[in-house]
Amino acid sequence: MDLTPIQRRQLTTLFAQSMKRFEKAKNGTYPYEDYELLFELVAKYRPHSILEAGTGYGLSSIALALGSTRSRIISLDKNHEVLEVARSNAREFGVFDRIGYVQTTFLDYLQNTSDGQFDMVFFDGFAPGLTLFLELERVLKRGGIMICANLQLRGDRRKITQRMNEDKYYSGFGESNGTIWGIKK
Ligand SMILES: C[S@@+](CC[C@H](N)C(=O)[O-])C[C@H]1O[C@@H](n2cnc3c(N)ncnc32)[C@H](O)[C@@H]1O
Repeated sequence: MDLTPIQRRQLTTLFAQSMKRFEKAKNGTYPYEDYELLFELVAKYRPHSILEAGTGYGLSSIALALGSTRSRIISLDKNHEVLEVARSNAREFGVFDRIGYVQTTFLDYLQNTSDGQFDMVFFDGFAPGLTLFLELERVLKRGGIMICANLQLRGDRRKITQRMNEDKYYSGFGESNGTIWGIKK
């Protein structure tokens, strides 16, 4: 399944609007550029439950929601102001009822979440660290899809990439423009 021409145009517009907000706010909320990749991964695997770490202005959560109408998303961000914008954007795209936006730090949320809760996890906070990555991995079900963005920002890029490349932990490794994904074993 592909984005329709209308959805593609709407997401392109939302990306441009989010970039303007990012440039004005200088708060690190750079919108996720490869939203078509997210759409394709969700359309392919059709996860029931998705956890997103890093809502920003909501572009990626909307792309995830458009990928499969059966998917429900929990999207986390510590910044109240960006969450308000994300909620409004999700309403405009008609996906608001399938996304729960939560104001929290990633670790606070994860500390109160038991193992194997989600069919897909998408990380788009700032540079990924291994400790946080392992917590996100813990709440992902076996057979679930891990997607980790922002490896171009370094963080623990080498350790995370190595882990996701290891047969023991993941299969189906994929990589594109600083984002990697794989299926948890
Ligand atoms: C790159 S932006 C996310 C962009 C978003 N995925 C999109 O497509 O528009 C990263 C977001 O992660 C949030 N963030 C970073 N570290 C966080 C943390 N430890 N806990 C909660 N939110 C965090 C920031 O407030 C920021 O809004």
